[in-house]
Amino acid sequence: MSSETQVPSTLAVVGAGQMGSGIAQVAAASGLKVTLIDSFPGALDKGLARINESLAKLAKKGTLKEPPEAIFARIAGSPVIENAHGVDFAIEAVNENEELKKEIFRKLDAQVKPGGVIASNTSSIPITRLAAATKRPELVIGMHFMNPVPLMQLVEVIRAIQTSDAAYAQTNALAEKMGKTTVVAKDMPGFIVNRILIPMLNEACFALQEGLGTVEDIDTAMKLGTNQPMGPLTLADFIGLDTVLAIAEVLHKGLGEAKYRPSPLLRQYVDAGWMGRKSGRGFYKY
Ligand code: CAA
Repeated sequence: MSSETQVPSTLAVVGAGQMGSGIAQVAAASGLKVTLIDSFPGALDKGLARINESLAKLAKKGTLKEPPEAIFARIAGSPVIENAHGVDFAIEAVNENEELKKEIFRKLDAQVKPGGVIASNTSSIPITRLAAATKRPELVIGMHFMNPVPLMQLVEVIRAIQTSDAAYAQTNALAEKMGKTTVVAKDMPGFIVNRILIPMLNEACFALQEGLGTVEDIDTAMKLGTNQPMGPLTLADFIGLDTVLAIAEVLHKGLGEAKYRPSPLLRQYVDAGWMGRKSGRGFYKY
């Protein structure tokens, strides 16, 4: 980090879902003043409740530096992006809908302070295209957090073809302040983590489809045989089977190779509405 790199102290997070609320929470716990924005009715309240719950768990474990109330007090909820006026840095974490993301980027462009970075937590949309939708393409970057954000150490930083060194330095400074470890990935389908993880989860679906083992045996084999914290089918349920399928399709379409073809069984589960943990049923029942 150069001596001129500005370390952000105010942050706007757009999208109060699982990822956005996690990002807002970790940022607030690191001392940033956060505006958490979601215009979808009820989403903001749900996101704030999720943050409260997570902070309470972490406080019980003794891993917070401050009382949870002090951290929570640094988060202001808002239904409109205009309340992000003048912030140092913004992170967009809404659904994987390119048009929606572009609209949010254009709105953030008008609010984030001049020279401030606008990042996307997307796992599948090219950062280069989001950057091109703004008047500050050199200040747009990918910041891909892992779920659950409060517990996972990694942030993938994705440089668009337009991203400047100054924007990259600001992003690394923010991630470091949030206590995260970064890796830098090229703006290619799946970046690093999903390029490697999703084919493994998809292969587990093919293994199940072919009757190689039961759900439990496939998970136990990979959990105990390769020391993973969760078996691949449990992890797929945890991520959401619709999300796993969507990313598998991005890899298949973007890289064009048959080896990325999504498992028909995975597609069938999604068609049935069995999305994993969030819908109460996936490979397991919850
Ligand atoms: N905030 C605070 N506490 C949380 C939490 C959260 N958001 N989520 C879980 N916890 C707590 C649990 O309540 C539990 O607390 P207790 O110890 O008091 O019971 C504790 O964390 C540990 O959880 P578990 O005992 O259930 O399980 P664990 O020890 O296995 O840890 C885990 C949980 C960290 C999620 C671990 O299972 C793990 O690392 N799993 C893999 C996760 C992973 O691979 N994530 C990446 C997904 S890919 C991605 O995100 C990118 C993408 O684009 C798809």
